[in-house]
Amino acid sequence: MTKLSEMKAAAITSMAQALERELELQKSNRLSLDLTRGKPAVEQLDLSAPMDSIINGDYRASDGTDTRNYGQLRGIPEARRLGAELMEVAADDIICWGNSSLALMYLTAELAIERGLWGDSRAWKNTPDAKVLTPVPGYDRHFTLSDRLGLEMINIDLNNEGPDLGQIEAAVKNDPSVKAIWCVPKFSNPTGCSYSDATVEALAQLPKLAAADDFVVLWDNAYAVHDFQFPRAPLRNLLDAARAAGTEDHMVLFASTSKITYASGGLAFVAASPGVLKEIETRIGVASVGPDKVNQLRHARFLGGRLEQHMALHAQLMRPKFDLVEKVLQDELGELDIANWTTPSGGYFVSLDTRPGLAKAVGELAGEVGLAITPPGATFPYGRDPEDRNLRIAPSFASLEDLKAAMQILVICVKLATLRDELQHRG
Ligand SMILES: Cc1ncc(COP(=O)(O)O)c(C=O)c1O
Repeated sequence: MTKLSEMKAAAITSMAQALERELELQKSNRLSLDLTRGKPAVEQLDLSAPMDSIINGDYRASDGTDTRNYGQLRGIPEARRLGAELMEVAADDIICWGNSSLALMYLTAELAIERGLWGDSRAWKNTPDAKVLTPVPGYDRHFTLSDRLGLEMINIDLNNEGPDLGQIEAAVKNDPSVKAIWCVPKFSNPTGCSYSDATVEALAQLPKLAAADDFVVLWDNAYAVHDFQFPRAPLRNLLDAARAAGTEDHMVLFASTSKITYASGGLAFVAASPGVLKEIETRIGVASVGPDKVNQLRHARFLGGRLEQHMALHAQLMRPKFDLVEKVLQDELGELDIANWTTPSGGYFVSLDTRPGLAKAVGELAGEVGLAITPPGATFPYGRDPEDRNLRIAPSFASLEDLKAAMQILVICVKLATLRDELQHRG
């Protein structure tokens, strides 16, 4: 195969016709394939099955708490120690509450708007057009959450080393209405990139640079231990860097075990400076008399001291799927030189960029053949990918066999959309 740009029009036409025939054939197979599901496969969930019997009548936490009763709003000590291992912060800096880090993010953002995080007069509601920076492509639920809370979103390009620092600086420096930045620092959703030390350092300094005195870094470390190789890749510690910079009151960190044990059946964590944590605790205490500590106890007993060992078992299931995605993309799109994609070493997603203007066309072609892909645009605020080129691939949930079939169809769709576009441009 040669590069598409070097191919003659006649060769492109006949290649497009062959792909069209192939797609017609696939249509008659009435397929139902799905690349949208960024959730653990059944085999991954099964890894946590021993957790079910681990309580075995012994409900006492290490500090003597009967986990079946109300109380302990911050969580039991061993659950917070587990969070500390996951987030690489001290257990005292953590609240373990609820089953969803996204819910904690919502609660934190709402608190920042309504009352502020500092127990003083600073609150985002005082700024009618409050804005938040959204590195793109990014996680659609951050966008929905921000939008729902009335926060306008400003796109920041996400590069291999993290969000573009120049764009961030320009956005925060003179505009006090810019209040926060969303960050997924490790194996980001969807590109799989991890922030460099320099990026983390710069983000720790950011509140000093921002015109807003109530600026917050929202650090969603959803994939902190989701490496494909162990020991896990290091990530510069944000809270340490912030303490050194004197900005720790402007950092809020999140994580959960959703993709470690059970999705929506795990533990969620929030970490912050003592003052901010207190404000968050007070807010949680309005809505809840305490977390599900039985679940905390079984998680802590099951994962305590063997977190990486457990994640290595996940990695054994994930790696072949990511390898397969990489191989199909490389074999089918590499030499034609018509797309770019990421090759993450952890996390849940691969990000594929078509030529500009083609992502929606690829989505439509795929839909016609029975392949569901994450709606093009979903990785950008307001569902608007300005270049209409980004596609998110979620390899985890499908079996290897289904994943292979799905990827083979996806690359046909990418090729066909690109060839048609090329022919149109050549006239
Ligand atoms: C970046 C990111 N943050 C948060 C979540 C959801 O986390 P939780 O299940 O803890 O609410 C996801 C799930 O896909 C995610 O990709």
